[in-house]
Amino acid sequence: MIEIVNLHKRYGQFEVLKGINLTIERGNTVVVIGPSGSGKTTFLRCLNLLEIPTEGTITLGNQQLTFGDGKRIAEDKQIAFRQQTGMVFQSYNLFPHMTALENVMEGQVTVLKRPKETARKKAFDLLEKVGLKDWAGMYPHQLSGGQQQRVGIARAMAMDPAVLLFDEPTSALDPELVGDVLRVMKDLAREGMTMVVVTHEMNFARHVADQVIFIDQGVIAEQGPPEQIFEHTKNERTLQFLNKLTGESL
Ligand SMILES: Nc1ncnc2c1ncn2[C@@H]1O[C@H](COP(=O)(O)OP(=O)(O)OP(=O)(O)O)[C@@H](O)[C@H]1O
Ligand SMILES: [Mg+2]
Repeated sequence: MIEIVNLHKRYGQFEVLKGINLTIERGNTVVVIGPSGSGKTTFLRCLNLLEIPTEGTITLGNQQLTFGDGKRIAEDKQIAFRQQTGMVFQSYNLFPHMTALENVMEGQVTVLKRPKETARKKAFDLLEKVGLKDWAGMYPHQLSGGQQQRVGIARAMAMDPAVLLFDEPTSALDPELVGDVLRVMKDLAREGMTMVVVTHEMNFARHVADQVIFIDQGVIAEQGPPEQIFEHTKNERTLQFLNKLTGESL
């Protein structure tokens, strides 16, 4: 379980996150939606400590971190915490000089100190899982965006994280490549991976999310199961946002 209590993030005078409270049950998929600039990426980055929150508490499994009062979190605690989270970026961020297989092996060997053979076996299994067994020896520039993103997912999974964080994983892809990536994510959700996904793919949100949260101006303006958000919302800001999305896709 992940528990986020009163999470704030400020950059100087500018407060991006203004007190986020959220509990994520193990095995659940939470989809995060909201307007550009509302704080979605910042929220994800705070969850894996790419950004250090200004205030608040995050509990992940048996690790709890409390931020604020100028308190510094010890480096080893940060590393242990970060290892529990896997991040999948919009822009894939693969190592260009390594094959797909080596990309999925790298963190296992350097961070987790797994023997190379163990890491290679796991990397192959994960590449097979994301439908890329036959592409293991290719370099990123030889792969399509959708294939690169699936390598990115395999790489994140290879670290056995307690939660996978996705920041608009399909928004850089050509439309015909989106489906393959979403299918992999849907499979992971079905298998019980805990996931937090920032996306504009409303069909994915409708069919895969256990919970949808709508972030607006740094707060959760509404949260609930997809039926509530998409069919029954009475929240003016949620309605406006969803109508705008529908308008853009027409
Ligand atoms: N390092 C930073 N320093 C200062 N301000 C920042 C920093 N990172 C983000 N911000 C500001 O925080 C706000 C929220 O940014 P964030 O990237 O979290 O939004 P978002 O909801 O992910 O938007 P988008 O949908 O466009 O990706 C923005 O106004 C942004 O300018
Ligand atoms: Mg963003």
